[in-house]
Amino acid sequence: MVWKIPLSDIDFTAEESDAVLRVIESGWLTMGAVTQQFEEEFAAYTGARHAVAVTNATAGLHLSCLTAGVGPGDEVILPSLTFVATANAVRYTGATPVFADIEGEGSLNISPASIEANIGERTRAIMVVHYGGYACDMPAIMEIADRHDLVVIEDAAHAVGSSLEKRMLGTWGRTGCFSFFSNKNMTTGEGGMIVTDDDDLAGRLRRLRSHGMTSLTWDRHQGHAWSYDVVDLGYNYRLDEIRAALGRVQLSKLDSYNSHRRELTVLYREWLQELAPAIEIPFRDHPGISACHLLPVLLPPGVDRRKFMESMKRQGIQTSIHYPPVHRFQAYRANGQQTVSLPATEAVAARELTLPLYPAMSAGDIELVVRSARDSLQGQ
Ligand SMILES: Cc1ncc(COP(=O)(O)O)c(C=O)c1O
Repeated sequence: MVWKIPLSDIDFTAEESDAVLRVIESGWLTMGAVTQQFEEEFAAYTGARHAVAVTNATAGLHLSCLTAGVGPGDEVILPSLTFVATANAVRYTGATPVFADIEGEGSLNISPASIEANIGERTRAIMVVHYGGYACDMPAIMEIADRHDLVVIEDAAHAVGSSLEKRMLGTWGRTGCFSFFSNKNMTTGEGGMIVTDDDDLAGRLRRLRSHGMTSLTWDRHQGHAWSYDVVDLGYNYRLDEIRAALGRVQLSKLDSYNSHRRELTVLYREWLQELAPAIEIPFRDHPGISACHLLPVLLPPGVDRRKFMESMKRQGIQTSIHYPPVHRFQAYRANGQQTVSLPATEAVAARELTLPLYPAMSAGDIELVVRSARDSLQGQ
């Protein structure tokens, strides 16, 4: 299907092609100097002491759980209104995800009060998700974590370039995990990054992403090492040089992408308010600076979302849902989670619809989407 306006779009230029070509011509494709440069630049950008490149954010979340000591018998508190990867990462360790509710229609982020209500003897960590790039209430969450001696892991997949109280999201918790999947604010196709301020933890993350080995093929190629030991049960969660090269170029463009996303979000809010005021827009009064990864809206209660999406599709506009709540998936019901009741999550999840948002959109595109949304509402 060729969309007039897709949900998201990438913006590669000759810069990305040239960077990839340089890697190919260098003859070194696996994790090496370009990945190291990407890590250093990403750490500097976020203000974290360390950035560890990984295959994707899911791998980053998995390693974050493992290095937080999460394992069988433990519980990790997280939202259900997220991509399934957040919860899967917990289950890879043998631990149980415990779903907390979101704040409500104004903020689709995890509620600190619900986190606190779900803390029990087996709770080991809290995993927050900055939905759409909008900051969770990190001061409140960090205070709860400190009081209960819990580790905080940030799923910052949507939040590259977001900040709260002048501190980048991803750097509040013990680790923060970013995604560079194709639809994200900066992309390497597949790819991810873990950031942390903890020197020892960074070293362990580096070993765990590469089979627990004490030196890399790259180190041996450079003559820095001649052999290696294996000191941990690790994984192959490495990023390659081609993706790192893409990442470096994309990172250099990120601030301009994000500021355009923010301008488009303001336009969306104005046009929706004017043409379709019945459609609610969450995060209106959010604190901090959002990377504006998504443009979530809440359709008026009683509107048939499937028909609405079909009407948008007939007009050439792609929409999506973020998210079908994880606790309702078959694989999660089977995990003994079917009894959980999350009223705010369920109410929002039934009405949420995501409109297109990507930096190359024009004001005219926004107007077209909003007019189509108005017509789709009227056609119900
Ligand atoms: C909230 C959230 N967490 C985690 C992930 C997983 O990211 P990746 O695809 O890089 O593993 C995604 C990806 O879409 C996501 O949206």
